[in-house]
Amino acid sequence: MERKVVFSGVQPSGGLTIGNYIGAIKNWISLQDEYDCYYSIVDLHAITVPQVPKDLRKNTLEVLAVYLACGLEPEKSTIFIQSHVSAHAELTWVLNTISYMGQLSRMTQFKEKSRKSEENLNAGLFTYPVLMAADILLYQADLVPVGDDQKQHLELARDLAERFNNRYSYTFKVPEPLIKKEGARIMSLQDPESKMSKSDENENAYILILDKPDAIRRKVKRAVTDSIGEIKYNDQQLGVKNLLTIYSAFSGHSIEEIENKYEGVGYGKFKEDLAEIIIEGLRPIQEKFDDLMKNKDYLERVYKEGAERASYIANKTLRKVYRKVGFIQK
Ligand code: AMP
Ligand code: TRP
Repeated sequence: MERKVVFSGVQPSGGLTIGNYIGAIKNWISLQDEYDCYYSIVDLHAITVPQVPKDLRKNTLEVLAVYLACGLEPEKSTIFIQSHVSAHAELTWVLNTISYMGQLSRMTQFKEKSRKSEENLNAGLFTYPVLMAADILLYQADLVPVGDDQKQHLELARDLAERFNNRYSYTFKVPEPLIKKEGARIMSLQDPESKMSKSDENENAYILILDKPDAIRRKVKRAVTDSIGEIKYNDQQLGVKNLLTIYSAFSGHSIEEIENKYEGVGYGKFKEDLAEIIIEGLRPIQEKFDDLMKNKDYLERVYKEGAERASYIANKTLRKVYRKVGFIQK
């Protein structure tokens, strides 16, 4: 029986947060043995917001090293840089021609991002989800493990697959999102009503996978809580709820176990423990990351081999698409 296919990616638009880790990458690791996995560093997506070229290069390599440090294995999964596989940009063009302006303009992420950059809004930001659909559909992915914020984009990818299949005959597998219940949305430490994001202006709002212990202690200490003073998982205490989710993700303990452990204990002690748990959880990743960054040849080998494997599969799908829409074979 053929193995099911998994596709996912992260943008190299800065350091990755523990939100990326808990919501996405951590879940990718366990899928590697059972599925045929493709994990991309989506640099084409990253340039939809202005990037400094040399930083983008640096971030792309760092995200690759973070992937490997977190436990993605090039022997098991295909790990590659999106711009190395030109089929992504090519399929995006074809899918653009069957995408409706109305549906794209209703995408929450587009609406949010366009609010932030009202002047000179670029067209890439608008067709961003079409590129994401191309990523997924090129590999005939069955499952797409992402955080909660990507659900709407996944819906669009499904719509485009179905629309193309209906118009031109069956071509694309219709993908399913894989969204974990817990940890699918890690919130900002400064505003627990909004998502933790690496692009937040306030650096106390997020913890990076590569943050030093002191920074982690400082950020957890300053995390917004409330005046209720009880460590309980509920919607009246969004800050505490978020910290409990993070605690649970890093310790492997259930929320209930943690609530029991901290019954009658103050926020101060809880935060101190949480900071240490995050530090210990990230330590092996950071150590491995440092080693990998010293071995650029190895990283280069990984992304080159990844691109080769990915291109082979992606081009197969692209050729089929080109034939179906009526392009003459070259
Ligand atoms: P991005 O950083 O936007 O490229 O996101 C990469 C992956 O991380 C996607 O699957 C997102 O859904 C996930 N992700 C990003 N931020 C968070 C967060 N705060 N909580 C949970 N998942 C997240
Ligand atoms: N848009 C996703 C994000 O910002 C990243 C992404 C691009 C992605 N292409 C993808 C995720 C394909 C899953 C599958 O989080």
